[in-house]
Amino acid sequence: MNRSSPPPLFIDCLTKKYGSFLAVDKVSFKVTPGEILGLLGPNGAGKTTIISTIMTLQKPTSGSIYLFGSNINKKCTKSKALIGFIPQELVTHGFFNVEQVLYFQAHLYGIQNIHPYIHYLLKKLSLWHYRKRSVHELSGGMKKRLMIAKALIHRPKLLLLDEPTAGVDIELRHSLWDFISDLKKENISILLTTHYIEEAEKLCSRIGILKDGKLKRIDKVKNLIKNHSWKEISLILKDIPPKISHPLLIHQKGNQLDFRVPPDMVIQEFLRKISIPYAQIIDLFIKRATLEKAMKNILKEQDS
Ligand SMILES: Nc1ncnc2c1ncn2[C@@H]1O[C@H](COP(=O)(O)OP(=O)(O)OP(=O)(O)O)[C@@H](O)[C@H]1O
Ligand SMILES: [Mg+2]
Repeated sequence: MNRSSPPPLFIDCLTKKYGSFLAVDKVSFKVTPGEILGLLGPNGAGKTTIISTIMTLQKPTSGSIYLFGSNINKKCTKSKALIGFIPQELVTHGFFNVEQVLYFQAHLYGIQNIHPYIHYLLKKLSLWHYRKRSVHELSGGMKKRLMIAKALIHRPKLLLLDEPTAGVDIELRHSLWDFISDLKKENISILLTTHYIEEAEKLCSRIGILKDGKLKRIDKVKNLIKNHSWKEISLILKDIPPKISHPLLIHQKGNQLDFRVPPDMVIQEFLRKISIPYAQIIDLFIKRATLEKAMKNILKEQDS
């Protein structure tokens, strides 16, 4: 894909109402080639609704969605075939076994010579030992892995993952993270929703924060942290100081002073700024600026 190619996904002023309820409110963003973009936000913020409208499972009230440059409301069968989708709710496949589900999916797309790729996916997603097992006998985490394999069968260029690791154990979550990172290396673009901050930080190059259907911010993780979070530094002094007034100081109790400092301020600069003699400092604690704090602050902001 060269620079002038249209982005895999462009959402332009998308609004979705369910009756009179506004679930998505004028949301616009792009997913660029090879990017993993995360959508975060509280329950009911509108994440699944956005994914459902991209999948044409819901009709936008207004606004447009473009897949690889084609408007999804016009004829764009070719572009739609480039998407893989993993829904938030697990879809059951009754009495089919794991392997049959994947072969069936491949046949739907008219894909030939799929055996090596299905074997690869079964092994990569640790489903090999369960390949002959009926889907209804699988645990939730195994079903989730099967949904991922199924979504990848036609080698999509854009993946829509709605809470891909919800309800899976820690070990599997980490192996899914590695798997998703490998997809990025293959230049597959991904839009994912998650409630796991660690997942978003680990996987996503950019994050969009949704609240009440509105996209409050969309930016690189490091910029969200830099602009909306802070580092907390606590100093324990040898002696109880007199009442101190300093712009960085947020709390003073006994011999403990708590400061709120910009995330990129290094400790030497901080100590220079507060000008407390080193000999007075007997201990120091730092809580780093985090995406979680940034997100909480963004969600706390009043609507303008
Ligand atoms: N089919 C529907 N009919 C009516 N209202 C709906 C429908 N689907 C979703 N909603 C409402 O739209 C809002 C957004 O729901 P959505 O499922 O998009 O949220 P979400 O961000 O995915 O939440 P979660 O984190 O819980 O998955 C919610 O208030 C929800 O109740
Ligand atoms: Mg959802």
